[in-house]
Amino acid sequence: MSLTALQNARPETAIVLGSGLGAVAEAFGIESEVAYADVPGLSASTVPGHAGRFVLAQHHGKPILLAQGRRHLYEGLTAHEVTASIRFMHEIGVKRVVLTNAAGAIHESFHVGGLMLITDHINLQGTTPLLGGPNFHDMSEVYSRAWCEKFHAASLEIGLKLHAGVYAAMLGPQYETPAEIRMLRTLGADAVGMSTVPEAIQARALGMEVAGISMLTNWAAGLRAQTLHHAEVVEVGKTAGMYLARLLKAAV
Ligand code: HPA
Repeated sequence: MSLTALQNARPETAIVLGSGLGAVAEAFGIESEVAYADVPGLSASTVPGHAGRFVLAQHHGKPILLAQGRRHLYEGLTAHEVTASIRFMHEIGVKRVVLTNAAGAIHESFHVGGLMLITDHINLQGTTPLLGGPNFHDMSEVYSRAWCEKFHAASLEIGLKLHAGVYAAMLGPQYETPAEIRMLRTLGADAVGMSTVPEAIQARALGMEVAGISMLTNWAAGLRAQTLHHAEVVEVGKTAGMYLARLLKAAV
């Protein structure tokens, strides 16, 4: 598909698929695709488990845009750069975006392989896409409460356990230390990851409606006797991604 065809389709809803969650796009039935490299200002991810393309699908008779793969601050990019895809979506008329990611579980009542609806975030990345302005955007409801309710209703409908909580964003690219995880828990974080927050801030600043879902791929460092490996994170994401696809299809 050409870039113009994507623009002409005028999707109003988009879903950003995180680590190992690319297969979720298949569940929607891929209609056509455009590589990020073919979109001015965007470029492909360098991280294994992240493709770099937009996929156009139809859902309930409406076009929906899926972003397979995202850029991260830990690749050495600025917060402005990692949010270029959000500004592109806004430009072509996208009004609401679901941001998904892989995250480490901190809250003891969660389970690995489960999903957490992001109700709020803590930005510990030390940067923001709004550096240089525009300033002082309200962030008291980054993740739409109305949309959260829809996700909860959809999870009940399909019989899926949906956790809810606060996502803490760390810069990465290394995983956290056990001491950092104890700190995050004290700060009120329920899950930890290295993405999503810059995109959520940018999308809100542009007036888009935002929802966030974390796939809990592992216990955060020090909570269980284990070490963390990216390959495992991607692997859990693949299996549990099927649940995420069902939830997204029911809620969006
Ligand atoms: N920490 C940070 N990012 C992550 C994790 C984690 O434990 N799991 C998946 N992404």
